[in-house]
Amino acid sequence: MRVVIQDNYEKMCEWAANYIADKINSHKEERPFVLGLPTGSSPLGVYKRLIEKNQKGELSFANVVTFNMDEYLGLPKEHDQSYWYFMHDNFFNHLTDMKAENINILNGMTDDPAGECARYEEKIASYGGIDLFMGGIGVDGHLAFNEPYTSLSSRTGERILTTDTRIVNSRFFGNDPEKVPAKALSVGIGTVTDSKEVLVLISGHNKARALAATVEGAVSQKWTCSALQLHNGAIIACDEAACGELMVDTYKYFLDIEKNERL
Ligand code: GLP
Repeated sequence: MRVVIQDNYEKMCEWAANYIADKINSHKEERPFVLGLPTGSSPLGVYKRLIEKNQKGELSFANVVTFNMDEYLGLPKEHDQSYWYFMHDNFFNHLTDMKAENINILNGMTDDPAGECARYEEKIASYGGIDLFMGGIGVDGHLAFNEPYTSLSSRTGERILTTDTRIVNSRFFGNDPEKVPAKALSVGIGTVTDSKEVLVLISGHNKARALAATVEGAVSQKWTCSALQLHNGAIIACDEAACGELMVDTYKYFLDIEKNERL
């Protein structure tokens, strides 16, 4: 596992955007580059920079297919808190050459959640899997909406959100946890770790415990993010604030080993 520690949120986002842009630009195959994407506040700075690169003509999305991590169940896509809305508002609508047919987001209004999720998995497989899955994590270490004790081999499916997650996410729903949907559709931990590379953004003091569990803790379904330890291409991009619970030796080790890395 690589852990790339940057001074602050902005630098973390800059690093991650450069990394993703470099991967897309160096993809010379005819088949599309398949990119997994998250919502949340963590990726916003990355999206901003990817948009800038795209608008300057330095990065094309013409041959990129995207799959989003998750979607609330019961929210129509026009709802301003649906992840469909978030992704279009913060990212897709600003790209010059992203094709609408290449955007994949689970349908939160489906009347057949199991079928919707099975089709999602099949579609990912039809492209030969995901090349790079960018993610964020919750304060309890959830990756996508895979809350603590979700199987580390889980696939795309319906999830019940914990009260804690609904409280944390209530900041987008007038601070009323009851207004946060109780269920979501989400890719599984197995879906994420099947990707060739996984890049997870972890920023801020409130994620410090989750970062320590991801990097230093036991591989455990208690912290679903810890499954990344078994992935051969996992990268954590984080900021100083998120490192507060790492052991000093761990922190020094990653700073030292990353010193001479190219990107
Ligand atoms: C939600 C999303 C996750 C996201 C998490 C953290 O629960 N389902 O995919 O990683 O929030 O969000 P933030 O980056 O805003 O802390």
